[in-house]
Amino acid sequence: MRIAVLAGGRSSEHDVSRASGTSVARGLGAAGHDVVEIVLLRDGTWQHDGDEVVLRPGRGLLGADVAFPALHGPFGEDGTVQGLLELLDVAYVGSGVLASAACLDKVVAKDLLACAGIAQVDYAGVRAPRWASERETVLDELQQRLGLPVFVKPARLGSSVGIGKVTDAGELGAALDAAFAHDPRVIVEAMSTGIEVECSVLGHTDDARASQPGEIMLASGWYDFAAKYEPGGMTLRVPASISAGAGETLRATAIEAFARLGCSGLARADFFVEGERVLLNELNTMPGFTPTSVYAKLWEADGLAYEDLATRLCELALQRRERERAYSF
Ligand SMILES: Nc1ncnc2c1ncn2[C@@H]1O[C@H](COP(=O)(O)OP(=O)(O)O)[C@@H](O)[C@H]1O
Ligand SMILES: [Mg+2]
Repeated sequence: MRIAVLAGGRSSEHDVSRASGTSVARGLGAAGHDVVEIVLLRDGTWQHDGDEVVLRPGRGLLGADVAFPALHGPFGEDGTVQGLLELLDVAYVGSGVLASAACLDKVVAKDLLACAGIAQVDYAGVRAPRWASERETVLDELQQRLGLPVFVKPARLGSSVGIGKVTDAGELGAALDAAFAHDPRVIVEAMSTGIEVECSVLGHTDDARASQPGEIMLASGWYDFAAKYEPGGMTLRVPASISAGAGETLRATAIEAFARLGCSGLARADFFVEGERVLLNELNTMPGFTPTSVYAKLWEADGLAYEDLATRLCELALQRRERERAYSF
């Protein structure tokens, strides 16, 4: 297969994406595929071998059979690049436009998951105009509804950027101001006291499987940017130290959420587990994708090597495109 690996992008996760992209390209190359690396620069331009990539709708992407958008966060994981790839008419790894966009917006995703009856922490969305005009009322409402501590987050970022944990009522307003610097929509969530457990999902929307769950063991505090990317910030324990029953609930929930949000190819489902209570935190449609990233580690623990995983995702992408072409529109 000829595979175009896209990495970089305009989001704060540019460097994380570059690491994912380099690994994917190496893995697919080692598996015998013909790899074309495309870097999405921070200014939004695309480059291949030092030349700007010129895109023409309907004309594919540098002759690739499949594109692998190893992109995280806004302008990459949020349906924008997926829409562009649809217009170029090239098969691509991962979720389509709608599921990518829905999963990257924490308020939209939580509302949809609530409709699907999936257990989550209590939460409330806040919009910038209301925050600007009714600050005190909003603060009162949030405290009455969610209590303390809470987590305050921009609706559409990743890698813990812009997220604050608030334990003191006096700090809530500042945490909202900080989150609103990133996004006109903010989500405030009741804190879960559970352990963090993640599960990798692989397959088509209605025919996916879930890996055994792994537990995020933190050196200290919560899973912030430093814990995610600094050496020693986190260790992964597989299998997670949860009951067999909680493990089964978690895997079934991961598959159900993947299907209900219309995900495709891959997602990492992140949970809080409080004893037997399993709460879904989020689905990441393009999780970090190096051999030491949680997504790949969990499959490795189940016997699926990194190169084979990357190849499998490209096969799934081709199959999805074939299936979609069978429908008239
Ligand atoms: N409601 C919550 N209860 C407890 N911890 C939370 C909660 N929300 C977020 N956290 C902590 O913050 C981290 C990042 O939050 P998350 O919603 O996963 O954002 P991101 O999309 O940036 O990964 C989580 O992994 C967890 O450590
Ligand atoms: Mg997360």
